[in-house]
Amino acid sequence: MKKKILPKKDILKIKSRKTFAIISHPDSGKTTITEKFLLLGKVIREAGTIKSRKSKKYAQSDWMEIEKKRGISVTTSIMKFIYLNHHLNLLDTPGHEDFSEDTYRVLTAVDCCIMIIDASKSVEKRTKKLIKVARLKKIPIITFINKLDRDSYDSIKILDDIEKKLNISCIPINWPIGSGRNFKGVINILNKKIYLYFNNNKYKNKNYKKSIDSFDIKILKKYFTHSEILNFTEDLNLIQSCYDKFNKKNFLKGLETPIFFGSALINFGVNHILKGLINWAPYPNYRNSLTRKVYSIEKNFSGFVFKIQANMNLKHHDRVAFLRIVSGKYKKGMKLYHVRTKKNNIINNAVNFIAGKRFLIDKAYPGDIIGIYNKGNIKIGDTFTQGENINFIEIPKFSPELFKIIYLKDALNQKKLLRGLKQLSEEGAVHVFKPFINNSLILGVIGQLQFDVILERLNFEYKVLASYKNTNISLIRWISCDNLFFLEQFKKENYSSLAYDNDNEIIYFSSSNFKLNLIIKKYNKIIFSKIK
Ligand code: G4P
Repeated sequence: MKKKILPKKDILKIKSRKTFAIISHPDSGKTTITEKFLLLGKVIREAGTIKSRKSKKYAQSDWMEIEKKRGISVTTSIMKFIYLNHHLNLLDTPGHEDFSEDTYRVLTAVDCCIMIIDASKSVEKRTKKLIKVARLKKIPIITFINKLDRDSYDSIKILDDIEKKLNISCIPINWPIGSGRNFKGVINILNKKIYLYFNNNKYKNKNYKKSIDSFDIKILKKYFTHSEILNFTEDLNLIQSCYDKFNKKNFLKGLETPIFFGSALINFGVNHILKGLINWAPYPNYRNSLTRKVYSIEKNFSGFVFKIQANMNLKHHDRVAFLRIVSGKYKKGMKLYHVRTKKNNIINNAVNFIAGKRFLIDKAYPGDIIGIYNKGNIKIGDTFTQGENINFIEIPKFSPELFKIIYLKDALNQKKLLRGLKQLSEEGAVHVFKPFINNSLILGVIGQLQFDVILERLNFEYKVLASYKNTNISLIRWISCDNLFFLEQFKKENYSSLAYDNDNEIIYFSSSNFKLNLIIKKYNKIIFSKIK
């Protein structure tokens, strides 16, 4: 059956939207670039509004004590801003690798990524991991090589490193002229303009920015020495012969990444990436569901929840479900069908997020992220529609890698502990397992830091003091089997190594891979799954 589509004016709104994430290794400049984006989008007026977390002057999510204490970002924030008539939705990702699952979920909700590389460090570990995920999902990637105002690696070496380590072709869009104290700007390979940067006494310490024609030797001589002109002309010839021209199709397939150079700190070149994003990143188009492709221009609303955040406002103990709109248009007061629970909800209080603040919204379009308040009935991966039973391809849960038993310091708080753990596990912050044989609670996480965050949040948000005991569990697998007889036999024979997860699904836990492999061999009719 043909689907009704939105009116033209709404389709134009969809086409003006870009939803993206920034991925980078900690300290490569993500916060600084985000701030410059928000300055360009006139969301904030002055630099320094989003201060470095280390300075502790301001934390974007200062409700979370541990972020302030450790100077790390462990949560995801969503920022919306307008640049050159385009609505840009920036989904921030946690800076610490222990929260990789959260980052993975964010990447399911974006259409493009900006990868930041510190020019003095080249490709770092965390970037490698994140790009692997982005590439699996075939998300187009734009690269910004940052901190050119500092002494940097040779630019060609950085590009070689990206190509080798990340297995993606680099297509330079601009090229730096000098670096560190001698950084003088970039030359745009496409239009051959030179964007000048000077920060010296001659210009009274003012960042002097201007673009000139790279062929006009008279003008060039005003700004560059003879050897500088020779060098960048040589560079330009070399780049043009070594690298392919930008090909949008290859970029959209995630095969090549356009490269920009600049410095976020001195706000040089940041506008070039945003222009690249506007020109090349895909607008919200379609998303696969289990039954069909759902197109953004369809009249009926649909969207999926990729993140839950509890206790954003401690006074109200509220929970916000972050929903990415896939199709149709959100209007305040509209009735939305919650596919999993088969219930209709009137949504009056959807919010969006601008520079850390929340605003009630009247309407929103595909690509936009809306926050829906709820009391715990919405889960990650849930779909909302206007009645159709659509299920978008699920966001997988990864098997945790580290395990501890949690216990209460004050046994009277058991109820509060269970409530806190239930909410935190629904947020995707931790896995909670209840063994068949006793009443203990086993927590599973991917990174060590998550354990600390859980204790901190239990204390801060739920007023529960808890601690951990070690366990010899080193891995878990979700269990399933079509044949109930085999399943029951397996359960009977392995009772002491089984537990329920928070959705009452059965997991098998083991102290080693070796033991697990023996069990897998013995029970070959049972499916042992690493991903839920
Ligand atoms: P992150 O979010 O990726 O972790 O990085 P963030 O922006 O916090 O930047 C990390 C450090 O690198 C900060 O310095 C920041 O000022 C600096 N930085 C970011 N971009 C540039 C750049 O283009 N050039 C130079 N030279 N430095 C840059 P910090 O000393 O750790 O913090 P702060 O006290 O300066 O704020």
